[in-house]
Amino acid sequence: MQLLITNIHQLMNVREQYFLLRGKLMANLPCIENAFLVINHGKIAAFGSMDELPEMVYDAVYDAAGASVLPTWCDSHTHIVFAKSREQEFVDKLHGLSYADIAARGGGILHSAAALQATSEDDLFKSTHIRLKELMLLGTGAIEIKSGYGLSVADEIKMLRVIRRIKEAIPIPVKATFLGAHAIPSAYKANKQGYIQLIIEKMLPEIANEKLADYIDVFCEQNFFSTSETEKILEAAYKYGLAAKLHANQLSVSGGVEIGVKYNAISVDHLEAMNEKSIHALATSNTIGTILPTAAFFLRMQYAPVRKMLQENCALALASDYNPGSSPSGNMNFVVSLACIQNQFFPEEAINAATLNGAYAMGIEKEVGSITVGKSANLIFTKPIPSVAYIPYHFGTPVIDRVMIAGKWI
Ligand code: NIG
Ligand code: FE
Repeated sequence: MQLLITNIHQLMNVREQYFLLRGKLMANLPCIENAFLVINHGKIAAFGSMDELPEMVYDAVYDAAGASVLPTWCDSHTHIVFAKSREQEFVDKLHGLSYADIAARGGGILHSAAALQATSEDDLFKSTHIRLKELMLLGTGAIEIKSGYGLSVADEIKMLRVIRRIKEAIPIPVKATFLGAHAIPSAYKANKQGYIQLIIEKMLPEIANEKLADYIDVFCEQNFFSTSETEKILEAAYKYGLAAKLHANQLSVSGGVEIGVKYNAISVDHLEAMNEKSIHALATSNTIGTILPTAAFFLRMQYAPVRKMLQENCALALASDYNPGSSPSGNMNFVVSLACIQNQFFPEEAINAATLNGAYAMGIEKEVGSITVGKSANLIFTKPIPSVAYIPYHFGTPVIDRVMIAGKWI
């Protein structure tokens, strides 16, 4: 089944060869004006300028009629398995409480954990499935999903099983991350080491045995998990072959970035609180820095210093952090806009960060993230738009007309 798509105003992020983008190279978003694209059995088979369209018979032709086409968003950091929204805490924050205040009084992640523990695997699957289908219509074509609201052996496993069912039910690539070290559950309030032991001795072996996780994550932060506790958990997880994606430097310069680099983490995520040392460590490593601007926006906190990180040659990705506490939205279009408005990404950099580098941050760069022959035809078709910059510029307004996953309209 060969589908020819004609009259694409701009075909964005076209790459014959691809590599992780860092520093200055992030500003290069190769595009073809007035382009065609051929899809064969769900994969990108050919593309080029309409002037060079080969004379051939195709099974079907779709006239894009001036739409632009780009790879779907690769959202490499989410917490979309959750049982309940937390708008009351949102109102509490409007009254002046901080994220840390709410966590300290037993709210926040622990609030989500109590709700999740009381919810069945089937119900979690249903609500997550609905959420993910919404995200796909917003252009998300690959996603990472974390556990971390279970905080007990049975409930962490329940979350990861939900993610596994989502992998089977949804046609986009899904990666699962085990985040047992997201918070210290109330039962272990006075015995944090006991909880770390539970993670290492009970959760990890069972999760590895059922092959429920692709990555390990730790919330490395003051009042959550220290750098030495993070190291201990990473050491244990590495024995099971789980590479790290860390929550690092969100609320403070926690040392999480340096730990991530030391353990060759695939990514360190958040990075709102960086100093020269942590920027340098990241820039001279293979670890990707994942920026989550909607979390900083929603918590009204400082934004990650993206210009400095790019000057130093870091490789950056953009993700939504979709979760009920700090980013109750998975709209990657808005993430890309906010990244430009507040982190000072340039539009081309932001689109690269949210597509190709996001794919690298999930280890699926061979499947998605750019317009490359052999990759899955996971594509966003925009409404007629004049330019690349229009995508972040027209913030909050849908620029997407249609989305295609593996060559099929959704
Ligand atoms: O990435 N910082 C830790 N975890 C999430 C928030 C989780 C929550 O508040 O439920 C984050 O911001
Ligand atoms: Fe997060």
